[in-house]
Amino acid sequence: MDLSLSDDQEQLLRMVKEFAEREVKPLAAALDREARFPSQLVARMAELGLLGIEVPVDHGGSGLDTLAYVLAMEEVSAACASTGVIMSVNNSLVCDPLLKFGSDEQKEQWLEPLAAGEKLGCFMLSEPEAGSDAAAQTTVAVRDGDEYVINGTKNWITNGPQADTGILIAMTDREQGHRGISAFVVDMNGKGVRRGHKDDKLGIRASHSCQIFFDDHRVPVSQRLGEEGHGFKVAMATLDAGRIGIAAQALGIARAAFEAAASYACERKTFGKRIIEHQAVAFMLADMETEIDAARMLTWRAAVAKTSGARHTRESAMCKLMASEVANRVAKNAIQIHGGNGYVSEYPVERHYRDAKITEIYEGTSEIQRIVIASHLLRG
Ligand code: CAA
Repeated sequence: MDLSLSDDQEQLLRMVKEFAEREVKPLAAALDREARFPSQLVARMAELGLLGIEVPVDHGGSGLDTLAYVLAMEEVSAACASTGVIMSVNNSLVCDPLLKFGSDEQKEQWLEPLAAGEKLGCFMLSEPEAGSDAAAQTTVAVRDGDEYVINGTKNWITNGPQADTGILIAMTDREQGHRGISAFVVDMNGKGVRRGHKDDKLGIRASHSCQIFFDDHRVPVSQRLGEEGHGFKVAMATLDAGRIGIAAQALGIARAAFEAAASYACERKTFGKRIIEHQAVAFMLADMETEIDAARMLTWRAAVAKTSGARHTRESAMCKLMASEVANRVAKNAIQIHGGNGYVSEYPVERHYRDAKITEIYEGTSEIQRIVIASHLLRG
């Protein structure tokens, strides 16, 4: 198996490493402390082509593959996990379904500005009573001539407070269950779209989320993404892509926590020696590094599968499950290695610990990933 990177991937990696190290990392602690949306970093990501990495150049993107996207996501997230998720939502939850399911007109009107970073996107699937059970949609889109009239509430919508464009999943025929769900692309500044107050979160505090309310919001039929009744599949296929992005975000968080712990362990002395010379600490670090590499291999495998065009539901679920759980273990042990210093905000590991938690929850909890993986076993 050849694990070497292509010239394009190497070049992107070098560019993103420099951006992350010089421009993102110095701001991360303050952005988190102030729960401040990183507008200037989002503008820089647009300039650097990081908001539509896999979108072809003739549609305004960078025309690279999923592994390139994963490499960039890990770097940005290692510097600032909040900036990482803003980037991942735009790339994999918004550009990706428009690229896969959009008509030529939809690509021109909606995808191109998103891929170029002129507009920011959000993905609206979750509802107050439809989180893990994504088919239990109560937001309705009722056909009225050449339009749909949309009513309902969406929850925890990442990028919701800032988004210009949204992918919306709604029920068009309740009788049909998941086969009665359809997908739409919507103008977030349109009449009848209202944003709730910003969620006050444990981690990724510089990435904002909120409720979105639809009150008789009208969209023309031309804004339906894919066939009527195919929206659940659009949502699931979108999450297959999104979960790779979140795995890469988790890898970034884990790596940042590991690097902070390793460097601290090489300096801090107790009982007359550096703490890395105590086997308890050395073994913790060895396990952390090994687990991060294992998670990275699963993430790269899923990325290669996606680029090949093959269905990658299982691979995406596996890498998201593994990388998010590794990030949580690594961040927890990074605090343990730092002792009291790990518990205060002077050191970055308490932020990594808070940021890691969400990766086990959004885009499908760890329990949902296990259901997805086990369902493949059942099917044989
Ligand atoms: N690709 C294409 N089709 C798929 C699919 C996939 N990955 N997964 C399922 N389907 C199809 C099935 O083949 C089936 O098709 P048929 O009607 O032809 O039989 C249909 O969809 C229904 O499948 P299931 O019976 O498996 O559906 P289910 O209701 O049992 O649910 C689930 C499956 C995996 C639990 C799903 O509900 C799920 O993934 N839940 C988690 C939702 C989630 O991840 N939410 C995250 C919100 S987004 C977010 O977090 C964004 C953010 O802020 C960053």
